[in-house]
Parts: sequence; structure tokens; C-alpha cells
Amino acid sequence: MLYLVIMLKKYTLFAWVLVFAVACQPISKQLENRGTLAKNGLVSSAHPLASQVGVEILKKGGNAADATVATFFALSVVYPRAGNIAGSAFVVYRLDNGDIGSIDGREKAPSKGHRDMFLDKDGNVIKDLSLIGHLAVGVPGSVDAMVEMHKKLGKLAWKDLIQPAIDLANNGFKLTKREAESLNSTKESFKKANRYPIHLVREDRPWQEGDIVFYKELAKVLERIRDNGRDGFYKGETADLFVREMEKGKGIITKEDLANYKAIWRTPVKTPYKKDYQIISMPPPSSGGIALLQLMQGTENYPFRKWGFLNSQTIHTMTELERRVYADRATHLGDPDFYKVPVEMLLNPAYNKKRNESINSNQKTPSTAIKEGNVRAIESVETTHFSVVDKEGNAFSITTTLNGNFGSKVMVEGGGFLLNNEMDDFSVKAGVPNQFGAVGGEANAIEANKRMLSSMTPSIVEKNNDLFMVVGSPGGTTIITTVYQVIINVIEHQMTMQQAVNAKRFHHQWQPDLILMEKGAIADSVKIRLQSMGHVINEIGGLGKVDAILRLPNGMYEGASDLTRSDGAALGY
Ligand code: GLY
Repeated sequence: MLYLVIMLKKYTLFAWVLVFAVACQPISKQLENRGTLAKNGLVSSAHPLASQVGVEILKKGGNAADATVATFFALSVVYPRAGNIAGSAFVVYRLDNGDIGSIDGREKAPSKGHRDMFLDKDGNVIKDLSLIGHLAVGVPGSVDAMVEMHKKLGKLAWKDLIQPAIDLANNGFKLTKREAESLNSTKESFKKANRYPIHLVREDRPWQEGDIVFYKELAKVLERIRDNGRDGFYKGETADLFVREMEKGKGIITKEDLANYKAIWRTPVKTPYKKDYQIISMPPPSSGGIALLQLMQGTENYPFRKWGFLNSQTIHTMTELERRVYADRATHLGDPDFYKVPVEMLLNPAYNKKRNESINSNQKTPSTAIKEGNVRAIESVETTHFSVVDKEGNAFSITTTLNGNFGSKVMVEGGGFLLNNEMDDFSVKAGVPNQFGAVGGEANAIEANKRMLSSMTPSIVEKNNDLFMVVGSPGGTTIITTVYQVIINVIEHQMTMQQAVNAKRFHHQWQPDLILMEKGAIADSVKIRLQSMGHVINEIGGLGKVDAILRLPNGMYEGASDLTRSDGAALGY
């Protein structure tokens, strides 16, 4: 402000009026573009009740790993469309001493799973079989990931981290408008997938905002997890209910599949960005980390800051980078325990530089010129991400999913929890797009006990070897480009965390060959310029639901939840 006053000192009356107007703004107005500020710890998640559970754990002396576990289980109750105990979770963490790590709690194909399990006798894909119902379910991994993470990094007792979720399930909680609408719009799918009346289907009237929903059966399962750890889910009564449900619906997951499931510690992928920064993310079987890092490497060669936010040249160039990265994703990425993913090649700056040399600054490259594939629209963009930091500076970035909205829609009878439909994240047939329109081949073909490829991109950014940002998003294949844009918004467009999360987004994934653009993101002139370069633009309601945290230069944390796209909350203390 002082600088501005000096600069304008001898100039116009208008300028003085401007300075006066800015200075007289109420503090709240000046701060409105910042998210939640906190000194001691922060949890940003898709549901205020889950964020609150995490913050209470931090206040009780728990560390960020403890708060992550507690928030995860709370989300399995209050956010059943993606929070889960029968889905997957990827966690990337950075401890205050600089140690980094990640755990892979991805589902895997059942031991009876095989390459052609979703094809008819003529080799054609059977519609919706990998999406709805019991065969769509992968062997869940998220609970084991939480157990392992707590064993290695937690501080508080396990039971104290699960109890808040049990209380929420028993005491009930109020539905938001969005949640009520989402349950109502899924009613027919719930009825189709379940042969018994599940409590999420209301026959008397539609769900309304403010209705209280309870999860009494889920509370019992959570009690078993509280008391017996992983055995409370993968063995005993819960496993019995799970397998009984499978048998009823012609599913193929067995008791051995559940008992044998193991989350895996993996080394995160990382790359420097412009000297000061380092991007740390999830390795395969996520495609997200590698793709994000490839995009960041590509970005180094372009002046996005100078071109500006959502400028036509910026959008065109990001789109061209994305086109190439997603073509690599379709060809090279899969479960590293089954397929040799060329990680070193994909993260070699020389490879990415060469690959991006074909970008024409005035004309799009048709996706068919990169590699052929079929197209279909993106149908579902669920999953959920949350970010956690504690007062020591430990940071956890976690994305967890059932895949589609409420997963396979199957609720385990007597267990009250929903099952994932993650089998659709495999390439069910080479070249045939999944629900996200993504294609794949050999690398991501179905094999018994193999993990399906994911786009989940829980990420952490360092600046000058210190914690800078914790970030991630739901959105299927759109996760990667959402996380990419949020990071670029902060580093290149110098936005606050909240502004970066609020900002409009777009997405391109090679196939289908079009840009998904959030409504109202760009001026007509920008649209016309992009179209003149050959881009096809489809407008879409919303992309991603980011929950992120930024460490500010003064050591405070700024938490940002995606307030316009979700009911989330960043809460701290
Ligand atoms: N099911 C979404 C993902 O893992 O990418």
C-alpha cells in the first residue's frame, strides 16, 4: 500500500480515490480471497463434520497421520458417495524432517478375475457390468492402508481415531442439499443393485436438506475395526457379510481375497520445478503422479505467467501438454507389480522436452496424430481428497475412492457399507473407453490380483526444501489436470490457495479429443481464438473438488476447500 501511495503521490485525483477506496474496505472483504488461516494444524475435506473430527484429533495431541485416519473413517460415514471402507486410498506424506513416503491401498482384481470377465461370447463389452453390481467390485484396500499408516506414523491409540466415526454413524447427521439430491438421483441405481431395501432409498418421499441419516449397521462394522484393526474388516463377521453379499449377487470376491489383501508402501515420484520447487506425488498404480510431473516438466518451457491465467495461448499450450501426457498414460501405465512401467523414461526431462517439440503455437495437434483411440463422454467424476497438516509441519495428502458416485451402488446386507466399482478402472477391453472416456491397453488389462490403474493424485509441493502445498482432488481422469492447474495457479499466477481452488478449470485427456471447459471460464474472444486453432470446446458444470493447504511465508497455514463446487470445509486451530 505504501509503495502504491508513493507511486501515485503526484498523480490524479482518481488514483487517490482508488487508494482511499481500497484502504477503507472492511478487513473481511480484503481477506475474502484467503481461505481458512490456522497456526497449529488444519484439515481440508469434502465434509465439515469430517474436517472437524480431524481437527479435534490434532487438538488432542494427535499428529497429522492420526488426523488423517480419523478423517478418513469419518468420511466413510458422512460422505458415502466416495468416502469408504470398501474402496481404495492413496496417501502421500511429508514429515517435517523432510522424509517422504506413500502408501498404496488400491483395490485389486479378485483371484478369480481375468482379462475377459466383462466381455460377451463375441468379445464385446457387456454394458455396465464393470460399473454396477457385484462383479464391478475390486478387493478393497483402504482400511489396510489406514492400519499400516497408523502403525508406522500414528501417535494416538487406534481406537480413539475410529470412535468419532462410530459416533457419527450412531447419532446421525443432517444431509446437505447436495447430498439429498445425490441420494435421490441414485435411487433407481440403488434399487437395481440391491435385492433388499437399503436405508438410503426412501420410498415415502424424496430426501430433503436437513433430513437426518443414521448408519447403525456401519457403526457395528466400525466397532469391529476399532477393536480388531484390519481383522475387523478383512476377517470374521465383516468378511462373512461381505462374501455372503458376493454370493447373493454372483460376485467373485472370496474370503481368501479379503484375508490376503495387503497395502503396499511405495516410494513417491518427484521432480523439481523451476529451481525452487519440488513436486512429490503418488507413483504407479496411480497414473496421476507421473502425469502431473510430466505436465510440470513440460510447463517449465512456457511463460504462462506472462501469458496470463486462462489466456488462449495458456489454455492451448496446457491442452497440448495434456494431450501428449494422457496418450502416454493410456499406453505405458498400469500396476508396476504386473507390468514394467517405464517410470524413468516418462520422468526424464529430455524425453518430455522431445515429446513436446511437436507442439504448434497456433494449431492444435489432432489426437489421432498422436495415437488413435475411441471416444465417449465422461460420465462420472467422483472420489474424494483431503489434506492435513499438524503444528510440527507434518503433511498428509490423501485421495480415497469407490470410483463412481456411491461405487457399485451395492450395500453389503447387514454391514451397511457400499462397495466400490473400481474394476471399471481396468482397461476392460483394449481401446474401449471406461466411464471416464479413458482408453488403455496391455499395461492395464485385467489379471487376477492386479491393481487397476488410478488417476488419484495426492500431492505435496516443496519450496526451498520446505513444505509449501498439500493438494489433491476427485474427478477420475480429470483429477490430474485439476491438481496441475491449482499448482500452476499458485506458483505462476500468484493466487492465494483459496483463489487457486476457486478459479475456473478446463480439462483435456487426449481421447475424447475435446476440451472440457467449466461454464463461464472464458470470454467469447478466447473461445473463438481456441476454436480457430482447431480445438473443440464442451462446456461442463464443474471439474474436481479440491481440498488443499498452503504454507504461507509467515508459517501460517491457509486451507482451501472447494466452496463453490462442494460442501467441503477447511478447518483449523
Ligand atoms: N476411480 C478413480 C481413480 O482411481 O482414478
